Amino acid sequence: ESYKSSNLTWHRSNVTREDRYRLNGHKSCALWLTGLSGSGKSTLAFALEKELYRRGVSSYVLDGDNIRQGLNRDLGFAPEDRTENIRRIGETSKLFVDAGMFVIAAFISPDEGDRASVRGRFAGGEFLEVYVKCSLQECERRDPKGLYKKAREGTIPNFTGISAPYDVPDKPDLVIDTEQFTLEESVEFLLSELGERDYLN
Ligand code: PPS
Repeated sequence: ESYKSSNLTWHRSNVTREDRYRLNGHKSCALWLTGLSGSGKSTLAFALEKELYRRGVSSYVLDGDNIRQGLNRDLGFAPEDRTENIRRIGETSKLFVDAGMFVIAAFISPDEGDRASVRGRFAGGEFLEVYVKCSLQECERRDPKGLYKKAREGTIPNFTGISAPYDVPDKPDLVIDTEQFTLEESVEFLLSELGERDYLN
């Protein structure tokens, strides 16, 4: 395995992170949204992206359903495929943050170890794990894509929450309970948390 990454040199950019922050007028950060299918990750991600745009903050959503049709089209839902899915998105997120942007990653990312590995790639700590909390019962009631029904019928194997595990985050940086709060309240909450952490200036 290691021979693949030998004989490589790390080239340093002449443009520093601070240069980019000054250019953009804000810092950069990865917001990592984790939660069950149907918990509201994508809805929250795209609503937050729009609000950041309105405030002049450059952000971009990486979303499971979208990325799995492009960059990660070779991956399925077996545990090792999910691990590779999350590793690649973690690396992609790091590139966005290095480039001075906000990235909002919306992936089930069910494995605590995989999420911890991604966090470990952000040496400067520009990473916030956001647990998009919603009970399995409510996700199944919402069932926006009819996937829970199929999973119960046995036509989708390895379905998170039904036939594949989801590790509830141990110490998330933030929790959004989508059964308790409206979309607007949740977006407002995330913006105020980003503001308090001085990311928006
Ligand atoms: S993971 O676990 O982080 O690698 O998953 P992710 O890349 O976020 O992809 C989740 C979306 O894929 C659809 N889908 C499944 N989800 C879970 N388990 C199985 N077996 C599965 N098969 C397809 C589903 O639409 C997920 O979308 P969301 O937005 O989470 O509902």
